[in-house]
Amino acid sequence: MNKRGNITWHHTTVTKKDRLLLNGHKSCVLWFTGLSGSGKSTLANAVDHMLFQESYRSYVLDGDNIRHGLNRDLSFLPEDRKENIRRIGEVAKLFVDSGQIVCTAFISPFLEDRELVRTMFEPGEFIEIYLNCPILVCEDRDPKGLYNKARKGEISEFTGISSPYEAPINPEIIIDSDKMTIEESVDKVIGYLKDKKIL
Ligand code: PPS
Repeated sequence: MNKRGNITWHHTTVTKKDRLLLNGHKSCVLWFTGLSGSGKSTLANAVDHMLFQESYRSYVLDGDNIRHGLNRDLSFLPEDRKENIRRIGEVAKLFVDSGQIVCTAFISPFLEDRELVRTMFEPGEFIEIYLNCPILVCEDRDPKGLYNKARKGEISEFTGISSPYEAPINPEIIIDSDKMTIEESVDKVIGYLKDKKIL
């Protein structure tokens, strides 16, 4: 029984397998993780666009956007980042259950939080994609001027400056976003999905 008590799980008539057969492809979560400015949102969006053009069912969940709504109550303190990622894991699970390929673009700086999300999925459904990019390059790009503000002390708990980022140890895919073009990066992700027979 759930700790709140008296809650029962209802099984739906249409199963995930039924939806996969209808869609003609498997569902999964493409979990993009990396520093601010490493290219998570750009690549998640480009992969989603490519999948959409090829008539696959996909969707993007993006950190900045989700923090405008569902997670607007959360700060950037470690405990709130943990809750941010837990909630996104649960939402991503719903998307995967609905038969879609969901691209999530969150810094998700803590190994333990990402591993917790991994345990929510069946084997092969959670695909961790590490946007590996030196902080100096991210800082040089600084698309939103946030590193500049963080260096001046105007933003506290800023990832890579005053809050840690724990890189993945064994991610399914590594994108060296300071060396690869967007096209090469999209090809690498799509190639992986084809190799694993998700598409
Ligand atoms: S986390 O760590 O996964 O909970 O962060 P996330 O939900 O992905 O939100 C990251 C975006 O929030 C903006 N922002 C900050 N990032 C890091 N640290 C601090 N303190 C911060 N304050 C605001 C920033 O635009 C992040 O977006 P990206 O796309 O990563 O640059």
